[in-house]
Amino acid sequence: MAITAEALKMKAQGIDLADFGAGEPHFATPRHIKDAAIAAIEANFTRYTAVAGVPEVRKAVVERHAADFGTDYTVEECVFSTGGKLALFNAIQVLVDHGDEVILPVPYWVSFKDIIQYAGGKVVYVESEERENFRVTAKMIEAAMTPRTKAIILNTPSNPSGAVVSPADLEAIVRLAASRGVYVLLDECYVYLNFTGEIVSGASFGKTSREVREHVLVMGSLSKTYAMTGWRAGFALGPKAVISAMSKLQSQSTSNAASMVQRASIAALTGSQECVAEMRADYITLRDRVLAGFKTIPGLTCTVPEGAFYVYPNVSAFVGRGGMKSAGDIAARLLSEAHVVTVPGEAFGTAEHIRLSYAVSADVIDKGVERMRTFLGGLA
Ligand SMILES: Cc1ncc(COP(=O)(O)O)c(C=O)c1O
Repeated sequence: MAITAEALKMKAQGIDLADFGAGEPHFATPRHIKDAAIAAIEANFTRYTAVAGVPEVRKAVVERHAADFGTDYTVEECVFSTGGKLALFNAIQVLVDHGDEVILPVPYWVSFKDIIQYAGGKVVYVESEERENFRVTAKMIEAAMTPRTKAIILNTPSNPSGAVVSPADLEAIVRLAASRGVYVLLDECYVYLNFTGEIVSGASFGKTSREVREHVLVMGSLSKTYAMTGWRAGFALGPKAVISAMSKLQSQSTSNAASMVQRASIAALTGSQECVAEMRADYITLRDRVLAGFKTIPGLTCTVPEGAFYVYPNVSAFVGRGGMKSAGDIAARLLSEAHVVTVPGEAFGTAEHIRLSYAVSADVIDKGVERMRTFLGGLA
């Protein structure tokens, strides 16, 4: 937060920043999605809707998920919300009671920790190994389970590391959790930004196992898939009783997601998915460009992300140089001296990394990497 605030101040002063801070696509929302929202407004589709979303948007969500992952959710097993974050927040509020434990692999997206704690839950961290490409396995999860474990959070591809849980690990984790009566919250915010060529949802294992189906909850978002971060469009798929409780909670807070956003989301989910494939291909090119740039910076090492749009380089070689004592110091100095915006790893539970979002133009990548090379290379 401190770095973001400082970056905003610098931007306001007209300083040219290479900004890798924001976790959002640089692409414009595709035309047909914007047109659907405009048409909805023109048609006066501007009133309250059903709290969980109009049946058409929920149908679009379940049909998209069925077509892409082979799941068979019904409309009653879907709630549409004002962003994936709200769906996640509501799910955790209805599932987690005071003292319940929620397993969270490290590095993690910071909101998971805060949302669990807001519900009174205890976060149980599971450290992943950088040399194993931040892999999360069933064995690691099992070792962290106790009789108080209520849920496990899996975010694959991961923000911040870009790590992808393999289909075999995913299946082992959901089966293990279900057999112990533990919920798995699958954050599929980046599910379509998976570069391995094998795009799988952990919910698909629920098709052949009732136990799995009753314990898996999908948290989905249109934000990154369709370059729609500002629209606030997300959803959850899961057991009817949980979805119904989430809708009830939503009915006393935000109520329905904006009506025209629901129409735009129908267009996104039912229209051609060509735009998703094109953006994914562009992200792969941008990832490779930033990784190639990092190779020219002695001391900087980085795992190869298999999805999302973040790189999570290890900066430990620079700690202790130039008076910098932490990743936080490095991110602060990169901003003040090199005019490069990054997010320090401390925000994601690791002390030796910084996160860069490469959802930016190739020019920004080239400029930013050059500035990093000059700054880091010049340290005594
Ligand atoms: C891991 C993860 N989950 C969920 C979200 C929430 O997305 P939204 O609320 O925009 O749908 C984000 C956004 O940054 C994210 O990185």
